[in-house]
Amino acid sequence: PAVRDAEALRVTITAGPTHEALDPVRYLSNHSSGKMGYALAEAWARRGARVRLISGPVALATPLEVERIDVTSASEMLAAAEHVATESDIFIGCAAVADYRAEHVADHKLKKTDANETMTLTLVKNPDIVAEIAARSSRPLVVGFAAETRDVERYARDKLTRKGLDMIVANDVSQAGLGFGADDNAALLLWRDGDDTDSQALPPQPKTTLADAIVDRVLTLYAHRAPA
Ligand code: PMT
Repeated sequence: PAVRDAEALRVTITAGPTHEALDPVRYLSNHSSGKMGYALAEAWARRGARVRLISGPVALATPLEVERIDVTSASEMLAAAEHVATESDIFIGCAAVADYRAEHVADHKLKKTDANETMTLTLVKNPDIVAEIAARSSRPLVVGFAAETRDVERYARDKLTRKGLDMIVANDVSQAGLGFGADDNAALLLWRDGDDTDSQALPPQPKTTLADAIVDRVLTLYAHRAPA
């Protein structure tokens, strides 16, 4: 829509995967392309918001009027998020952040040896970016995503509560043609309404139009939450 109904709002979005280095040439990651997060950045910018996009490594062009901050690892993404969170009205975590990173990053390329048929990596938990932003005393409205392959609603409700989020966008990433890397997606939005949880199902559609529907719901929630 041509409506500039998000003017004056400062929105920060994380998008894409993170890369967690194992050695100078290898990393752990996932299949996030950044398309969903970039579609959100574009939708908010079109509607007049001041958008900051904290992006993991992706092959996408920066949407018009969007300030992009490139990061590689979860730790870098957290540092960038903490830096801009205080200047944000709305924070949306769409990135597929690696839950774990290598305990030790090798200084040199790990070698294959004839003696070793198996190799063990020790991983340590990464900080949870959306949970850390949501736990701050003066904080933006925080929206998370939930990528699930089963029991979508149950796991999403759990993440909404456990991470202290205002809203969660749950997507079933086991469905062919939707989710990771695809141009289309579907989502179940869950948000808190007092002691209850309200929900809205958004059917499969291009990530661009889905992003606009998510923006609509977030704006309604924000108007509801913002002190008069
Ligand atoms: O990038 P695309 O190819 O377009 O695909 C889109 C998508 C499937 C990646 C996207 O729609 C999506 O679901 N993003 C969230 C992916 C994810 O990591 O979900 P999760 O259920 O593991 O994480 C839950 C929430 O916590 C997310 O908001 C995530 O950003 C956040 N998180 C997770 C771990 C962590 N260490 N820090 C976080 O902030």
